[in-house]
Amino acid sequence: MAHAPTVLIMGPPGAGKGTQAGHLVATYGLLHVATGDLLREAVAAGTLLGLEAKSFIDKGTLVPDDLIIGMIREVAAELPEGSGLLLDGFPRTRAQAIALDKMLGVLDRDVDVVLDIRVPHEVLIKRLSGRWICRTCQTPYNVDSRPPKVAGVCDLDGGELYQRSDDTAEAVGTRLEVYETQTAPVSGYYRDHGSLVTIDGDQPSDEVRAALDAAMQPVTAG
Ligand code: AP5
Repeated sequence: MAHAPTVLIMGPPGAGKGTQAGHLVATYGLLHVATGDLLREAVAAGTLLGLEAKSFIDKGTLVPDDLIIGMIREVAAELPEGSGLLLDGFPRTRAQAIALDKMLGVLDRDVDVVLDIRVPHEVLIKRLSGRWICRTCQTPYNVDSRPPKVAGVCDLDGGELYQRSDDTAEAVGTRLEVYETQTAPVSGYYRDHGSLVTIDGDQPSDEVRAALDAAMQPVTAG
């Protein structure tokens, strides 16, 4: 690989960002930074950030930009030199995208590719209502498309599976609305930048994976 790439994975709630992140991390040696996971860890640990973020997450609205940008700034400050990066769920607003550009500029890096996964709303609602996640490794399962071998138990590490507090019908409705109004326009920002690749996420996971690999090819070829 010619250089340490900076890769963004975007898409609405339930598009399959978390599902595909494991493959991208393992195949391209990227460091996975998922803002949703970091926030849920902060909530579980009862930190100040977690206390501030919890009500936004539970309602399905965005956590304020200053908190998110501060959190990513800490990650950027500790990023090992030469490490490839997969940002999952960030940026979600234009202000976050501009802040990211500034942070990467300081590190003499740029966004190499934005993998924008698209899935119709009715499919997203069905996926999220059937999602279970491993408490230990965060692997997502699905009662329809990816059931665990033993109900309630992670195939990979035996961790307990749980349903997220923001996967209720009400919060999912809000999350989809917030995505359309605040996050979908960020795709336009990256289209102008020339780094956006749209991926059809409404197909079996292995076909989504193949489309992502094709989109990664120019990046890994240098
Ligand atoms: P976050 O944790 O980022 O959630 P999200 O964006 O809503 O996305 P999800 O994790 O729900 O979906 P996913 O795309 O990862 O889907 P998955 O792979 O699990 O954010 C949560 C909250 O944190 C936000 O609402 C906000 O409050 C806050 N937040 C986070 N980042 C923020 C930011 N930058 N700014 C402000 N606030 C922020 O797949 C879903 C299901 O579908 C699974 O069951 C899976 O098995 C199944 N599935 C996946 N792919 C397929 C397929 N191809 N076919 C069939 N089923 C599939």
